[in-house]
Amino acid sequence: MLIPMKDLLDDAKKRRYGIAAPNVFNLESVEAAFQAARELNAPIILDCAPAHGIEEVSAIAHFFASKYRDVSAALNLDHGDTFEAAIRAIRSGFTSVMVDRSTLPYKDNVDQVTEITKIAHAVGVSVEAELGHVGVGLNYNETRDKGLTNPDQAADFVKKTNIDCLAVAVGTSHGNYKGEPYLEFDLIETIERNVNIPLVLHGGSGTGDINLQRAIALGIQKINLFTDLNKEGMEQLKSYVAKEVPDNIDGDNDDEFSEGVMKLNIREASQESMKGYKTALKYYMKLFGSANKV
Ligand code: 13P
Repeated sequence: MLIPMKDLLDDAKKRRYGIAAPNVFNLESVEAAFQAARELNAPIILDCAPAHGIEEVSAIAHFFASKYRDVSAALNLDHGDTFEAAIRAIRSGFTSVMVDRSTLPYKDNVDQVTEITKIAHAVGVSVEAELGHVGVGLNYNETRDKGLTNPDQAADFVKKTNIDCLAVAVGTSHGNYKGEPYLEFDLIETIERNVNIPLVLHGGSGTGDINLQRAIALGIQKINLFTDLNKEGMEQLKSYVAKEVPDNIDGDNDDEFSEGVMKLNIREASQESMKGYKTALKYYMKLFGSANKV
């Protein structure tokens, strides 16, 4: 069942656990996410970025939601960066939209988020917005401190915009880190006290298990994940290819190599990579305490 993201996050806040929000982008990733959620009896939030096909992924998610009826899932537009993307997501059946205006001046962030929130709430769709800015891990040292969320501004932001959950910049970054990530735990606590709505952590991958668990204990309810799921999927794919095309074949277009390549199968390759994606996702769901919370 696809339900508003607010319903999932409010329960997670009440019972103090975290919900994994993997990026999904095609049929296989959506099904892997539904399977992981069913196998662990855990709620899940499917995060789809505009570039990955709003209408397409929505149709796929609705299909699997009716196939996996016992799963409690939300479908969220990840980093929705235009008015048009948010409206298309709402229209095509997303149950939540992230309105990401985190790089704009504060007033523009407030105004644009408020406008979309009014529309989304009118049709029961939840809204996530970001204050401060979560950067890219490869520029960790340069961007981390500049982007941190201001906790007083956070209180004002939530009051003015009426959003359902707030993405905060507390020391994580998207993608692989250059350097060692470290979190501002006091800041999480202060923001949580100031806003009293569920908090979202972008850039969950590579953050470290203990850091993530502590962040959840202090008030984070949604953890966005992609890089680590991708990594595990690619590892699985590499071992599938290596099994069929052993190392001692040099690839000089000889018969052995052709025979090995002939055994590779694009459908199996995709299934294998999704096995890795799902394994990593389930690992995080257990770590976040969301197993058996449906
Ligand atoms: P990672 O790829 O670092 O896990 O971040 C994902 C994310 O935050 C998507 O919004």
